[in-house]
Amino acid sequence: EMDKKVNSLLEKMTIEEKIGQLNLLTPGGGVATGAVVSDNVQQKIKDGQVGGLFGVSGPEKIRIAQEYAVNDTRLGIPLLIGSDVIHGYKTTFPIPLGTAASWDMNLIKQGAQVAAKEATADGINWNFSPMVDISRDPRWGRVAEGAGEDAYLGSQIAKAVVEGYQGDDLTQTNTMIATVKHFALYGAPEAGRDYNTVDMSHVKMFNQYLPPYKAAIDAGVASVMSSFNDVDGIPATGNKWLLTDLLRDRWKFDGFVVSDYTSVNEMIAHGLGDLQAVSAQSLKAGLDMDMVGEGFVTTLKKSLDEGKVTEEEITTAARRILEAKYKLGLFEDPYKYLDKKRAKKDILTKENRAIARKAAAHSFVLLKKDQQILPLDKKTKIALIGPLAKDQANMPGTWAPTGDFKNSITVLEGFQNVAKKAKITYAKGANISNDKQLAKNVNVFGPKIEISEESPEELLGQALEVAKKADVIVAVVGEASEMSGEAASRTNLLLPESQKVLIRELAKTGKPMVLVLMSGRPLNISEEAELPIDILQVWHPGVEAGNAIADVVFGDYNPSGKITASWPRNVGQVPVYYSMKNTGRPGLQEGFEKFKSEYIDVDNSPLFPFGYGLSYTDFKYSNTKISSEEMNMEGSVTVSTTVTNIGDYDGEEVVQLYIHDKVRSITPPKKQLIGFNKIAIKKGESKTVTFTITAEDLKFYNSNLEHVAEPGEFDVFVGTSSSDNSQQLRFTLNE
Ligand code: IFM
Repeated sequence: EMDKKVNSLLEKMTIEEKIGQLNLLTPGGGVATGAVVSDNVQQKIKDGQVGGLFGVSGPEKIRIAQEYAVNDTRLGIPLLIGSDVIHGYKTTFPIPLGTAASWDMNLIKQGAQVAAKEATADGINWNFSPMVDISRDPRWGRVAEGAGEDAYLGSQIAKAVVEGYQGDDLTQTNTMIATVKHFALYGAPEAGRDYNTVDMSHVKMFNQYLPPYKAAIDAGVASVMSSFNDVDGIPATGNKWLLTDLLRDRWKFDGFVVSDYTSVNEMIAHGLGDLQAVSAQSLKAGLDMDMVGEGFVTTLKKSLDEGKVTEEEITTAARRILEAKYKLGLFEDPYKYLDKKRAKKDILTKENRAIARKAAAHSFVLLKKDQQILPLDKKTKIALIGPLAKDQANMPGTWAPTGDFKNSITVLEGFQNVAKKAKITYAKGANISNDKQLAKNVNVFGPKIEISEESPEELLGQALEVAKKADVIVAVVGEASEMSGEAASRTNLLLPESQKVLIRELAKTGKPMVLVLMSGRPLNISEEAELPIDILQVWHPGVEAGNAIADVVFGDYNPSGKITASWPRNVGQVPVYYSMKNTGRPGLQEGFEKFKSEYIDVDNSPLFPFGYGLSYTDFKYSNTKISSEEMNMEGSVTVSTTVTNIGDYDGEEVVQLYIHDKVRSITPPKKQLIGFNKIAIKKGESKTVTFTITAEDLKFYNSNLEHVAEPGEFDVFVGTSSSDNSQQLRFTLNE
């Protein structure tokens, strides 16, 4: 059916009409992340020069645009309507690095379903998400938008999110096309500077960076966005090896590829030629749709006339765009997502907000509990201090352009909602930062860093005054939301000095203290971690921020998150990640030995390892067993462990399974995650968790890029984080 419809259209289409389908514009008025915003969009649609729009929302506005396409063009082909729905639509969820920390695939999928329901109710049919770029460099601001450092976990999350957005039937009105991005390797720029050069061996990319994109494709994602960076010296947007040999021929992707914002044009700055040349190169490489830059629409006809591209190449790209429209059911009803009643009914509902609140609470990570100050009694006298304690604007986090921060619950409000009898006094205590240069650069986009009229000394004085009268200090500190995200790379991962001073001075009061820490990335909190305090990492939690934080602080929910990107001891240690290799001179677990792969001025381990996170209760692992010490290629072994909740609270634990391949043809990582299971265990109870390992789980890409498992010995680790070596087993894989 689809072929019939698409072929009949293609037969009727002129070359200009086909090229028009490859053009994606944004009329502005929304958010621009590059220099260009499209002009004269209305006329261009009517002239059949536009295949899709993004940055427009609401049934009324979209209907107007869709009517131009349907009524005023010769063939009446409807538009794709795109949007960046990165972590929730109007009901904003935690930043993706936060939701990843829940390790809860059902909850992550449910969050994507809510986003799809709301976005489609507002007229959107195509989402520019998920971002699955692996990153091991917290200097890179967009680490906030991904799932962290691990390819296996990243792949599970990619699948869950794609399934959440797309459902099993794209013709439904509450599902939308997902876009896996940024293809490829965008999360590995040199020195963490956004858009910077990426250079990586194929063995590394296949094993460590490409699996999440592939997982999204295997899950049926209908579109792919090419990245800004180069891959093997050729920008991804014009890279034939990437967009055709790998994506189409090897991975059998059958959807369409869209460029990133002006990434075709940016190939000029990369050094590959003029707009005509880079547009032709991109089309030939396998790019189907050109975002904003209008290189395709202005040059492809000329390139065709000059024999630089073929009609078949243009037709193939147009076919893929038409197929996407067909899959959505837009030919049957171009207005199917434009129901004003739905827009009123389905967005920011109580139910959606409840799911966002749950997703937020489940994303929080208890980093330190030496003092066991948490959870707080609901009647406590609390000094709630910090520049983010009464803040609304930063709660949604970076890249939440569809959400309105005015809907978000501050921490102060959340505390008042959840602990009605608590006596809470608030003081700002410090600016997010006093650094005018930083504030200036952050303030270009999104919520601003406001520097208070009161002096830092006055702010601090007020905070100490409030602290004196309280039983407990809760300090809500961290990054402004735009200190992470796109084009927000940092060379310094410390909390801003203004807040470091505040924390130091509050700690000196000797009062019990909890840090509620917000950030879009792993930070260097080596200094704060030395203090006798509890630390709860809450990312940027989304619209229900304050309520969710209160749920956890007052013990209605026991934190269960585990970080998915290692936290460094200092920035010089970056990249630090759990799956590093041994090298020929492995460093010690602790301490120092000369002529080993170690630093002389800091421990080799991260401050907090991948997979780490505490609970108000404690879990004990015991009785860890393997079904056999031998396994063959067709067989399997099962690994089981018993987890007992030995503390005072019901809780949840993410049981993690790692292997170390002891001998293989490509040097192996020290550890590699191959499974996990999040379980709820009541206090005093035990649960047994069982994992089955087959040869498939032991596979890696060898030097010929074949996906193989090689015979030999494997170590197995089951435990509470990537650094837990307490439950170790071994087996041999035979030919
Ligand atoms: O989807 C985004 C992408 O992640 C970064 N550049 C702009 C695109 C469209 O807004």
